[in-house]
Amino acid sequence: MTFKEEIERRRTFAVISHPDAGKTTLTEKLLLFGGAIHVAGAVKSNKIKKTATSDWMEIEKQRGISVATSVMGFEYRDYKINILDTPGHQDFAEDTFRTLTAVDSVIVVVDVAKGVETQTRKLMEVCRMRKTPVMIFVNKMDREGKDPFDILDELEEELQIAVRPLSWPIDQGERFKGVYNLYQESLDLYQPGKQVITKSVQLNLASSDLETHIGDKLSQKLRDDVELITEVYEPFKQESYLAGELAPVFFGSALNNFGVKELLDCFVEIAPSPRPVQTEERTVNPLEDEFSGFVFKIHANMDPNHRSCIAFVKVCSGKFERNVNYKHVRFNRLMKFSSPTAFMAQKKEILDEAFAGDIVGLPDNGNFKIGDTLTSGEMLHFKGLPSFSPEMFKYIENADPMKSKQLQRGIEQLMDEGVAQLFVNQFNGRKIIGTVGQLQFEVIQYRLLHEYGAQCRWEPINLYKACWIESDDVAQLADFKKRKFQYMAHDKEGRDVFLAESSYILMMAQQDFKNIRFHFNSEF
Ligand code: G4P
Repeated sequence: MTFKEEIERRRTFAVISHPDAGKTTLTEKLLLFGGAIHVAGAVKSNKIKKTATSDWMEIEKQRGISVATSVMGFEYRDYKINILDTPGHQDFAEDTFRTLTAVDSVIVVVDVAKGVETQTRKLMEVCRMRKTPVMIFVNKMDREGKDPFDILDELEEELQIAVRPLSWPIDQGERFKGVYNLYQESLDLYQPGKQVITKSVQLNLASSDLETHIGDKLSQKLRDDVELITEVYEPFKQESYLAGELAPVFFGSALNNFGVKELLDCFVEIAPSPRPVQTEERTVNPLEDEFSGFVFKIHANMDPNHRSCIAFVKVCSGKFERNVNYKHVRFNRLMKFSSPTAFMAQKKEILDEAFAGDIVGLPDNGNFKIGDTLTSGEMLHFKGLPSFSPEMFKYIENADPMKSKQLQRGIEQLMDEGVAQLFVNQFNGRKIIGTVGQLQFEVIQYRLLHEYGAQCRWEPINLYKACWIESDDVAQLADFKKRKFQYMAHDKEGRDVFLAESSYILMMAQQDFKNIRFHFNSEF
């Protein structure tokens, strides 16, 4: 196989959804098709969300186990598939956002009864920002749910993306008969509990054979529905999908393994191979000979006896090889790796080479930060690893004065790992930790103690949002900072951050200081 073919056969994506829509079930079925696992129930990582939130230690343990399923690579037909897992628990949403920077496309799972839910909406915002191609799987058709046309309207409105059904359900709930596959013009019939498509027949809708399979009434309805679809929705265009403007929609039932193979077959054909990636210096094309990649996730080992981390690197161009010197751009230093790991389904194994699109795990002892770049020698800095405005804030204080150095180091490293965000108040010098969920505070406190021997204490702070500010109007910016001096902070890169106490105060600030731009993620 040529170098070009190796890269073009890669499909690196994530399955995203609101908890309980069926992400784990779908992922598992995809793995079954790839022969990557042989029994259902093998993918456990996302069951995390079902643990009571207070039992976060258990969650961390499971997260440890889930390293193995963080990336699931397998072969399907002539394609190399890499599924990137995203944490099911919404307190780890920031992890998910970052994982989305390493995928070339996503599959969104929506529950037919619940429609679009909060977490899906948030994750889609990130996809839109990055123009990630999106495919939608409307799940649980074996249950009663919303009308499929209403679901399409809702998807379009709530996710702000044009949609085009590529399969169409024939009834639902107990009366669910199957789907008509508009992409392949076949009728796929469903039988409850069978875990397979009972019958798939190549069939033109005009044919009277339709009646023999699903009866007069449903045949008529299907023809009417499809006519309406053709009238209302533009024909499917792959370019629009690849541009992130149009989402093809499939209907099925992950639990019953219905509609999953059709989704996968269409996916491998139309989903993008590794896409060009933007760096501060230039656009990097995956087919370039020289290797480049970036760290999008760092996974700490919770076992105190083996305190190393794994840095997950997305290969953006060329080929990564074991024991070859690469430049760690931030350190401007060469490093080589003797035991990089590949993730093939549930196994971790040492890899000798990896191509653009693949994910490599590098054992790390604090050399890497989220966003770090590795290259064959060129000084490149990858863009697009945004931090989002956190939603919860606490002052972090030292509870053991003898250990202030350890605390300092611990905080720095945990922030580099992307566990939470640190802001230093410019007025009183106090450190504020911002997170997206309550769990992170507990995780930080525990890890500071067990990994760094430092003790911290949390103190409340009343904040609504932290936002990055900038302006070309130097005088106005100076005036703003002077007036709000008690509420100004620096992030860990030293950038200006405004700490708004309430939505009203933020709104007033935006109104009064028209020349200042308030950003809700760090990438502007
Ligand atoms: P998540 O990862 O998105 O959070 O969802 P997950 O796959 O864990 O699925 C959530 C629940 O929905 C599970 O039930 C799962 O069996 C069920 N489910 C998934 N797909 C379908 C489907 O097509 N039809 C129906 N009827 N149910 C579906 P659970 O009872 O919470 O878990 P479990 O005990 O079955 O594992």
